[in-house]
Amino acid sequence: MAKLSIVTMPGDGIGKVVLDESLRVLDAVGFEAEYVHADIGWEFWINEGNALPQRTVDLLAEHKLGLFGAITSKPKPQAAAELKPELRDRGLVYFSPIVGLRQRFNLDVCIRPCRSFKGNPLNFIRRGAEEIEEPHVDAVIFRQNTEGMYAGVEWTDPSPEVLAALATHPKWKTFAEVPPADLAISTRIFTRRGCRRIVTAAFEYASKHGYPSVTVCEKPNVLRETSGMMEEVAREVHADFPGIDLWSTNIDAQMMWLTKNPENYGVIVAGNLFGDIVSDAFAGLVGGLGFAASGNIGEEVAVFEPTHGSAPKYAELEPSIVNPVAMVLTAAMLLDHIGEERRAGRVRDAVARVIETGDVRVYDMMKIPGGPGVVAQGAATTLEMTDAIIAAL
Ligand code: NAI
Ligand code: MG
Repeated sequence: MAKLSIVTMPGDGIGKVVLDESLRVLDAVGFEAEYVHADIGWEFWINEGNALPQRTVDLLAEHKLGLFGAITSKPKPQAAAELKPELRDRGLVYFSPIVGLRQRFNLDVCIRPCRSFKGNPLNFIRRGAEEIEEPHVDAVIFRQNTEGMYAGVEWTDPSPEVLAALATHPKWKTFAEVPPADLAISTRIFTRRGCRRIVTAAFEYASKHGYPSVTVCEKPNVLRETSGMMEEVAREVHADFPGIDLWSTNIDAQMMWLTKNPENYGVIVAGNLFGDIVSDAFAGLVGGLGFAASGNIGEEVAVFEPTHGSAPKYAELEPSIVNPVAMVLTAAMLLDHIGEERRAGRVRDAVARVIETGDVRVYDMMKIPGGPGVVAQGAATTLEMTDAIIAAL
């Protein structure tokens, strides 16, 4: 059989460090693939005016599978100022390349598993009636990844046509007197197809992995149209999964409950913005950004990435001190996706063993502030942490 090919997109900052570490783990678990490097990130914005060059899009279209590190994004004025001089004044507009990839390949299903590892000092604990309790968290968040508040349909100083359309809505009268230059509008667009794809993915996952419930986490009492559509579709899809309970929570209440009884939740499904929020919150219960992996899955292309960004303040540190676990778990998700579940399980078991043994801990697990001094304080470097995972394999 031909070797599988995977497009590797290290991106910026610590993305470059942790992606290489995940490839070492994939090698060590005996997984063989051809890795095809692709350019993405800030450097390509500065030098080419495009953080997502067409050649990278072409590579993904060809190979269909991507492993992504992290990118740096900066606000509009700063992005414009950092462009190389020849490219300024051409009206180039910075757009996040990872959001671009999600939209370009319709990577509409985002999966973010948040599972606590035994022995992780960063695990959530709570005061019980008798003693301090450490509930086992095992939540898998399904976030609609292409629509909703992040679809990019938004305006400052909207045109007369946009204003005229909005004026057809009775509730617009509150804003009718505001000068257009003082109006900023971001739309929240859901489609029935998008809702069906994310809800179906959530139920199928729950069914395959034995989760008793799927929780829709939206706000249908206020966002009647969009959240309402997600709930309606969930009820329809639920009919095909009678063995699984369908629950519904409001995003605000969910944020409260998840620190009271996180063990009650299994598979959670939400739109783009609320899915972003609830998945970061759950990630916080299991160790935060150093542990949070994700997959962006479309009908043809899938791209796997850690949730964290490029962490510029640690990017230049030598040796690197950041936690490679999020990226290693990301690589394990890629293995799951291509049917390499046995190897994926071995990687996760190795991570679990290193965490439980506790001899090798990166700075975040020691709960000390990051910086050049952490190694002297006993923290493992990024490479040492990966070495420990490889040894545990
Ligand atoms: P960040 O995730 O890069 O870092 C925030 C903080 O989290 C770091 O300062 C560090 O304390 C900690 N952290 C992150 N990853 C870690 C790891 N692997 N091990 C240990 N600690 C870790 O988010 P921030 O600082 O808000 O953004 C920095 C840049 O990254 C920005 O330009 C932002 O736009 C971009 N970003 C990119 C993302 C992506 O590529 N998908 C996601 C989030 C932010
Ligand atoms: Mg986020």
